[in-house]
Amino acid sequence: MEKKWWQTSVGYQIYPRSFYDSNNDGVGDLRGIIQKLDYLDDLGVNLLWICPFYKSPMDDNGYDVSDYYSVDPLFGTFEDAKELITQAKAKGIRVILDLVMNQTSDEHPWFVESRQSKDNPKRDFYIWQDPKFNELGERIPPNNWASFFGGSCWNFDEHTNQYYMKIFSNKMPDLNWENEEMRKAMYEMTRFWLELGVDGFRIDAIAHLAKDLSFEDSTMELNDDGVAPDWKKYSNRPRLFDYLAEFHDEVLSKYDIVTVGEVGGGADVDDAKNYAAYSTKGFNMVFNFDHCWYNGAWDDFGRTQGKLEVDVVGLKKRMNHWIEGSLPHMWMPHYWLNHDHPRVMSQYGDPEHFHRESGSMLGMILLALPGTPFIYNGEEIGMTNVDYEDVNDFRDVWVKNFMEEAVKRHPYEQIMNHLRRTSRDNARTPMQWNSEPHGGFTQGVPHQKSVSNYPTINVASQQQDPMSIFGRYKAMIHLRKDSEYTQTLVYGSFEMLEPLDPQLYAYKRVGDKNLVLIANFSQEKKDISHMNLSGKVVINNYDTYSNVLLPYQAVLIEL
Ligand code: GLC
Repeated sequence: MEKKWWQTSVGYQIYPRSFYDSNNDGVGDLRGIIQKLDYLDDLGVNLLWICPFYKSPMDDNGYDVSDYYSVDPLFGTFEDAKELITQAKAKGIRVILDLVMNQTSDEHPWFVESRQSKDNPKRDFYIWQDPKFNELGERIPPNNWASFFGGSCWNFDEHTNQYYMKIFSNKMPDLNWENEEMRKAMYEMTRFWLELGVDGFRIDAIAHLAKDLSFEDSTMELNDDGVAPDWKKYSNRPRLFDYLAEFHDEVLSKYDIVTVGEVGGGADVDDAKNYAAYSTKGFNMVFNFDHCWYNGAWDDFGRTQGKLEVDVVGLKKRMNHWIEGSLPHMWMPHYWLNHDHPRVMSQYGDPEHFHRESGSMLGMILLALPGTPFIYNGEEIGMTNVDYEDVNDFRDVWVKNFMEEAVKRHPYEQIMNHLRRTSRDNARTPMQWNSEPHGGFTQGVPHQKSVSNYPTINVASQQQDPMSIFGRYKAMIHLRKDSEYTQTLVYGSFEMLEPLDPQLYAYKRVGDKNLVLIANFSQEKKDISHMNLSGKVVINNYDTYSNVLLPYQAVLIEL
């Protein structure tokens, strides 16, 4: 394995809409990020992944792009983007963009043209199919495949009497990757941003570029919407890897950049290797969702109603499965959550009783793993899920689609419990900078309501305190990036310890140094004398350390 700059980097994902609003219009913007570069520098992160800020009608918060070459006025100007990249670089912080290649907005000029007529030159940039008819002679979609956002993955277009494919929302038509002209146009666009100085991409929804072009019905049982959630019809299909190899040869291989593909829930480690093994022409690493969807946080309705129990053994098993399966073959990114998942503090921490302790423990577990860690904005201060009482406070298009069916089947309070546990909006609330109104995110009216705990959970109350969640993240980041432990933390071997212990999260890293990260992932004390761990305490989230770990205590020990 060749050593690369991004292996020792610490990533930080910014959801620009909710990060910092510099012009008080209620929406975070690029100048807001520029103003917070000192903050990011202080935290120590040096690889920013910024969610889409291209021109977009914002049906899915920017993942529906209508112009890849310009910045949406909500976020600022093209000059702001250039300035952000330059100013970040001056601080040693690299910027990667979110590359959306599976679909465009229906307002993208390609689609506007494509839907005009069946013989339009751009028709074939998208996936069009004739309707089918049922026994009653009623028009039905070309097949029974589901969309990720509910209902069918097809939307009817009256004008030409055909359906177009859309695996996300109706306003996000899927591109046809079989079309060479479209592929070349995509490559040109990515070159444009690379030439401008971005250091790589997080590539959105990449597992779905290739579809089963037979378009045959799935035989899978239909869900409540009457469609088959048979994701393999458009996930991880062999043809996809031809597209990726071409993209790699024509663009990616020509730059010293980092690429992280989003392969989502449908890919296991072996699938992931097809995208990111050292020997393939693909990406440098891929994000999987296994640990995010664990624990009933993205589960059936029933399981999201009760108290959330953390199954530490299961969580370790999943993490271990990926790490052991990956280590010799491919580099891995690690993260607790992104903009599509609930807040890790609410999912695996204890915000009510042990906010500081559990938040710093989660950070220490993350930041001592092998691979490249990514922190999601707000995680470093232990931000939580929303406490909304009114469904109208949610903003996500997914929630809106979900509600249409859910209200027919479940009582309102149960729907709210479900959304407060699972909604993507949990991670999309305004960043909590201080105790001023809306957490100091804006002096206007925020596009989405803040979580009401901002007077206590905020940056200002933690930034100067080394033992705060922020303080412990900062110390770990420093250790990982630039210390005598860097080699071991980044490149050392990994061994999970006590895999069957329901309270402990512990692992060993061996490189130049011999390190053990041990964490008590519970509210109860934990005796660890049987582990015979003696050595130097490198980082601790309490002031003391003994053979009895305190609730959510995490310690990095040099043996
Ligand atoms: C990815 C993004 C998500 C978006 C979807 C469609 O999963 O992370 O936010 O809705 O792709 O682009």
